[in-house]
Amino acid sequence: MLDSFLNRIHQGDCINLLKQIPDNSIDMTFADPPFNLKKGYNSYKDSLALQEYLIWCESWIIEMVRITKPSGSIFLHNIPKWLTYYANFLNKIADFKHWISWDAPTMPMGKTLQPNHYGILFYAKHMKQLKFYEVRYPHKRDRKSKYLTKDYGGKKNILHPFGSLVSDVWTDIHRIKHTKYRDEHPCQLPIHLLERIILMTTDENDIVLDPFNGTGTTAIAAKKLGRQYIGFELDPNYIDITNSKLNNIKSNSKIGNIWVSSYLDKIMTIRDCDWSSLKEYFYLPENPEEIDYTPAILLSTTRSSSSNRQMPLNKKAAFEMFNS
Ligand SMILES: C[S@@+](CC[C@H](N)C(=O)[O-])C[C@H]1O[C@@H](n2cnc3c(N)ncnc32)[C@H](O)[C@@H]1O
Repeated sequence: MLDSFLNRIHQGDCINLLKQIPDNSIDMTFADPPFNLKKGYNSYKDSLALQEYLIWCESWIIEMVRITKPSGSIFLHNIPKWLTYYANFLNKIADFKHWISWDAPTMPMGKTLQPNHYGILFYAKHMKQLKFYEVRYPHKRDRKSKYLTKDYGGKKNILHPFGSLVSDVWTDIHRIKHTKYRDEHPCQLPIHLLERIILMTTDENDIVLDPFNGTGTTAIAAKKLGRQYIGFELDPNYIDITNSKLNNIKSNSKIGNIWVSSYLDKIMTIRDCDWSSLKEYFYLPENPEEIDYTPAILLSTTRSSSSNRQMPLNKKAAFEMFNS
């Protein structure tokens, strides 16, 4: 039953399609629904009355929880206003894990403080069975001097050489600003945002489902990381865009045999548990205190497409390349 859905984007209404997915069959569900803010979608009128919008949201949220495995997780991306209602539904049928604040400027909504974050609700189907991996991101550094921007005081010698554990405030992933990286879609998410969520909550070959596919951010992130995907989308044009991108994506976002998330040749997210194997691929300062001004440098930015392996350079060359 599930096999016919796997690794495809299906055209249609997500509630009808979700109803065809068996109970407890999906490892991670992620939804980025229309925000009811009158955005210019092709096939969807983004302006329902408040109660109508909330009743509609509740019906697909219930389905998302139903299809998620007991070890699985449920993510909902939206503006904080709608997440307060979503949390109210979800608290009755799943276990709250985090409210992730994704630092990104949003649309002003009248006389307000300037909205500067989106929220991502993270629920476990069952907290005790949840599959969850801690993840790390590179330390933030001054662009020119390479010094850490945060003052760690006397704790610099115990810093992780790659970067900090990811907290529930994400400031290192930016919305897609340049049109050359955007599709014809009003609210496409960055792929490495989804990659972080996928690395945090799934393993290779696990199944990820997104009921509001858009132009395929979740499916592409899943494919890059060797996961299986299912997407639902009303609009055939968005599905065409997704499929043409998927055709050009390889499941090879790896260093050695380890899945990692990267963006424009910068590693964005790794799993903490992978560091002991990953570190051999990085130039690391001998003295821990040098982490203050010496980033972990990947020993090559060159990928061999045939073998999916990083080509080793010698450490001195890598260091000079970084500092040039
Ligand atoms: C906020 S966008 C998702 C963007 C997506 N995360 C991306 O990065 O491309 C919401 C999408 O849901 C689609 N949509 C709206 N109502 C839907 C429904 N009932 N079933 C399936 N898709 C729907 C819209 O066409 C739109 O592409």
